[in-house]
Amino acid sequence: MDYILRPWRSSDLDSLVKHADNYNVAKWLTNQFPHPYTYESGKGYIEMVGKDNPTKVFAIEIEGEAAGSIGIFPQTDIHEKSAEIGYWLSEKYWRNGIMSSAVKDIVKYGFDTFDIVRIYAKPFSTNSGSQKVLEKAGFSKEATLKRALFKNGEIMDEYIYVRFKE
Ligand SMILES: CC(C)(COP(=O)(O)OP(=O)(O)OC[C@H]1O[C@@H](n2cnc3c(N)ncnc32)[C@H](O)[C@@H]1OP(=O)(O)O)[C@@H](O)C(=O)NCCC(=O)NCCS
Repeated sequence: MDYILRPWRSSDLDSLVKHADNYNVAKWLTNQFPHPYTYESGKGYIEMVGKDNPTKVFAIEIEGEAAGSIGIFPQTDIHEKSAEIGYWLSEKYWRNGIMSSAVKDIVKYGFDTFDIVRIYAKPFSTNSGSQKVLEKAGFSKEATLKRALFKNGEIMDEYIYVRFKE
């Protein structure tokens, strides 16, 4: 299925709320991703990610709608050569290979754009879909952080997946 990665626009607000306001998406993400997902949170998000230059967060446009998001976040201080990635996709488009491809795109963009050597992601141990996406995009599992996170009333392990600059 075709998709485009491009910067978020203020006109994406309706499609953002439509696709992001879904517990099946929110339950796999940090609490920074709100549930329910309101217009107010969407507006704040689009304003916030629009400030970055170079762009760090891209809308995943499918069939003319902003139906997901993927971002790369270079770290600071002694971790400045590392960047974390994060992503979500509208449930409507799951299992079409979109995120496996979008993660490859953001890795290329990240290593081309930022002076970094390491890109990592931190899926919940229970998020086998995201782990598969990372493996398909050339990441390897580096670590298990035991009982590191608390979400949906449950303490869970967190995994770290990594890809290094060649
Ligand atoms: C995880 C997520 C990004 C996957 O996106 P996607 O575009 O459906 O992923 P892909 O279609 O590229 O799938 C890659 C592989 O994982 C498999 N997969 C996808 N979702 C899966 C799931 N829930 N359970 C098991 N396998 C899954 C696919 O079948 C595919 O395997 P295949 O190539 O052998 O068929 C999407 O489900 C999502 O946004 N989830 C909620 C938010 C989230 O988890 N974000 C990541 C936080 S770390």
